[in-house]
Amino acid sequence: MTEFEEDVVDPAVLPDERDVENSLRPRQLDEFVGQPKVREQLSLVLESAMRRNRPPDHILLSGPPGLGKTSLAMIVAAELGAPIRVTSGPAIERAGDLAALLTSLGEGEVLFVDEIHRIARPAEELLYMAMEDFRVDVVVGKGPGATAIPLDLAPFTLIGATTRAGLLTGPLRDRFGFTAHMDFYDPDELEQVLRRSADLLGVQLRGDGGAEIASRSRGTPRIANRLLRRVRDYAEVRADGVVTTAVAAAALAVYDVDELGLDRLDRAVLDALVRRFGGGPVGVGTLAVAVGEEVETVEEVAEPFLVRAGLLARTPRGRVATPAAWTHLGAVPPPGGGGDSPGRTLFDA
Ligand SMILES: Nc1ncnc2c1ncn2[C@@H]1O[C@H](COP(=O)(O)OP(=O)(O)OP(=O)(O)O)[C@@H](O)[C@H]1O
Ligand SMILES: [Mg+2]
Repeated sequence: MTEFEEDVVDPAVLPDERDVENSLRPRQLDEFVGQPKVREQLSLVLESAMRRNRPPDHILLSGPPGLGKTSLAMIVAAELGAPIRVTSGPAIERAGDLAALLTSLGEGEVLFVDEIHRIARPAEELLYMAMEDFRVDVVVGKGPGATAIPLDLAPFTLIGATTRAGLLTGPLRDRFGFTAHMDFYDPDELEQVLRRSADLLGVQLRGDGGAEIASRSRGTPRIANRLLRRVRDYAEVRADGVVTTAVAAAALAVYDVDELGLDRLDRAVLDALVRRFGGGPVGVGTLAVAVGEEVETVEEVAEPFLVRAGLLARTPRGRVATPAAWTHLGAVPPPGGGGDSPGRTLFDA
């Protein structure tokens, strides 16, 4: 158990929030906030497929956790009026499991494979022919007497989702006719997500209450929705239930989420870097010891956002605080910038 266990700004889904997350999912393309390019492209793909009366090309959705990949997959099926079957890469251990699943799909059905980069290699190879020719070879028997029986599949649409598009093999990637790259949301878009969620949850969001939460949500709808629920709890217990700017700011201070969306661990890392190591460069091992955490926690939990926000740079000589990090901590950056990285943050428009 560590000091930083409760992580309200973790982009991954927490075990107890699956139900509420499902209830907040947008159901149609025009309810889906942001990602204008992806929405436009997808609507063309879907519309033209429906005109031709054929299932659309296979679709790959790639991007960081919590940006709406699963939601979009459900929306595609809903827009097509097609049933959706949901599975995930790690759940498909053997090619036989996948063959059974594929042969049971009806014409035009959508198969959603989450975390598709984690699919086992033999299953992946089976998928190639299934995606390309709507055919699978089912192997019967073992050893030299084994024979492959080709089976035709009903035309279907595969939707793959991945947080790690770089881990996908070339042949698999090439078999998707359409790839959507999801990007972090800007604060205005997150505010729209929050307004919609507040309506669904019956939360009264006033004035700039939504903007206050949006700016601390790390560009991620999942985090925005989670912070909204925590702020609602605070508003109900400590205020009159109405979420104003002041109520949102006070609630997020209780949960240790600062104006940039940094939590305690993020700030501890920056603080050690700036105040104990003069802004770096310092090795990640030393930095981890200074904040009393494992190296992996610092590297995988804290650093990705700090880097993205332009507060920390990973250099060959070690970690370096950018001038923006010094300023954020209320310190004065050393002359010359205190590091060899850009000083802009994500939040400079
Ligand atoms: N564009 C959006 N508009 C409105 N709400 C959204 C949008 N994108 C995501 N959300 C909300 O954020 C939550 C998380 O979205 P979703 O589960 O689709 O993310 P994901 O990309 O599949 O994440 P993971 O990589 O962890 O599977 C959902 O509850 C959904 O309501
Ligand atoms: Mg998902």
